[in-house]
Parts: sequence; structure tokens; C-alpha cells
Amino acid sequence: MSEWTRICATNELLPGERRVAEVDGVMVALFNVDGDIHAIEDVCTHDGGELNGGPFSGFVVECPRHGARFDVRTGEVLCGPAYSPVSRFPVRIDSGVIWSRDDRWD
Ligand code: FES
Repeated sequence: MSEWTRICATNELLPGERRVAEVDGVMVALFNVDGDIHAIEDVCTHDGGELNGGPFSGFVVECPRHGARFDVRTGEVLCGPAYSPVSRFPVRIDSGVIWSRDDRWD
């Protein structure tokens, strides 16, 4: 089973904010949506754009390269040209610290 990686303190990722962290060698984009933390791979499934660099509003992030939109809560595509969802990662909050891990190969 993969190990949990410390991301940051909860007060360093406030509602409406996002950040990127390396988790087991994978760049993960974390988003605070109304107090809930969501983590997805920071790679657009269309052509590899870094999702963290695009506009983020509500629960939607837009890829800065060609405009695909994803639901950061689920990884689902909301708007092409991407058609495959991005990977989601589990998030744990423990004593004011946010943790995540890459569980895709557990
Ligand atoms: S690389 Fe993201 S929409 Fe093309």
C-alpha cells in the first residue's frame, strides 16, 4: 500500500484555493471546494497540460492549453477536447494537516 504524503496545513489551502504537491513522484493538484479538499493528477488527459495552471472556479478547473474542463471533485470531464477523466487521489485531514497518496496501484 502506498504511503501518505504530507501536503500542507489546512490553513494553507483555504476555500477557493489550490496547490500542487508531489505525491509518490506524481504531481497532484489539490483544490479546496467550500472547505472540502479534493486531489487529482495535475495532468490533463487530452495532451498533458498542467491543470493547476488553468482557471479554477467553484469545482471546475480548465486546462490552460486547449480549454478542457474537469470536475475536481470527481475527475470527470465536463467539456472537451479531453474525454477521459483525470485520476483522483484520496485525501485525509489529520490534526490540521492535509495528506494524500497515490492509491492507483495498491
Ligand atoms: S492538453 Fe488539456 S485540453 Fe489539451
